[in-house]
Amino acid sequence: MTTLELARACYRDIDLYAPDRSPCAIDLSDNTNLWGIPPAAELAIRQAPIATVTRYPSLYAPTLKRALADYAGVEPDTVVTGCGSDDVLDSAIRAFAEPGDRIAYPDPSFAMIPIFARMNGLEPVAVPLSQSFDVDADAFLATDARVIYLCSPNNPTGNVMSAEAIERIIANTSGVVILDAAYSEFGGPAEMHRWTEIALRSGRTLISRTMSKAFGLAGLRVGYGIASPALAAEVEKSRGPYKVNAIAERAAVTALREDVAWVNEHVALAIRNRELLSTALATLGLAPLPSASNFVLVPVHNAAETGRRMRQAGVAVRPFPGLPHIGDALRISVGPWEMMETCIDVLGKALAAND
Ligand SMILES: Cc1ncc(COP(=O)(O)O)c(C=O)c1O
Repeated sequence: MTTLELARACYRDIDLYAPDRSPCAIDLSDNTNLWGIPPAAELAIRQAPIATVTRYPSLYAPTLKRALADYAGVEPDTVVTGCGSDDVLDSAIRAFAEPGDRIAYPDPSFAMIPIFARMNGLEPVAVPLSQSFDVDADAFLATDARVIYLCSPNNPTGNVMSAEAIERIIANTSGVVILDAAYSEFGGPAEMHRWTEIALRSGRTLISRTMSKAFGLAGLRVGYGIASPALAAEVEKSRGPYKVNAIAERAAVTALREDVAWVNEHVALAIRNRELLSTALATLGLAPLPSASNFVLVPVHNAAETGRRMRQAGVAVRPFPGLPHIGDALRISVGPWEMMETCIDVLGKALAAND
């Protein structure tokens, strides 16, 4: 038996997730908070007692659950935490589907979903988004998938998906709906809260969110899900104990209790700079897609080569070759305006070099 044959069959075709993460002076490739860490969270990390490192963390992060529940306006028993929302998504897929079941997800959307699907022995079924990158409810329901994954605002297109279509899917599927709201803070207060009530009422919907984006804590890996208490409990079993480390729990709780004004202020800046960036891209003759997130997707010819030239010039963006409906595109994270100015300058030169 070869080493490869010793691994589970469903793992043999899985490659390691390997986007280009080599260091770059300005990194606009991963949609994190480019203004930095919230101040109270930073202090909490610097002042952490040694026991935060030498002892095990809590089993299921109850203090964090309470702080997240207050932030989201829900009860703590509807919250499940994880090592990033990646962990919440992976655990949820495992909790709700048997190997061999189908998971339906939008194309294009978050690149990790088909990978998590295969890691859990599921069949990933890509459902094309419409011309305007909205969800086709009938196409999703026709897959008869055990798990339906939706993402709003969607990565990489940046748009919110129609509430009507999402509600129709929730009302008519016999499986579970996972609604990934990693970027919901950037879609405005209505986008932040509109799904919570539906999720809690439906009993078959899990909202996943993260502290990696608006909260600026990506390196700590703190994500969370919101669902009916029964559903949240199943995800927690699948996730297992000790997943949120003690430094992360301490910083995240502090950020939720003391840094929300800082977060809101920087979300507002990101929204303002997103619109300025879109206008500047248009003056380069490009047609960026409207975005409700902290990134902008802009179609360009030869995205891979343009991205490579930009990286060489010190600005990392994320190339997406061959997207449905638009072809090649670059996804640019929004940050402080000086970074955006450098990006626009470097992009203009990279495009000129392509000609
Ligand atoms: C749509 C979406 N969901 C989930 C994640 C995972 O975020 P994290 O694991 O850092 O919470 C990302 C990260 O880029 C994302 O874009």
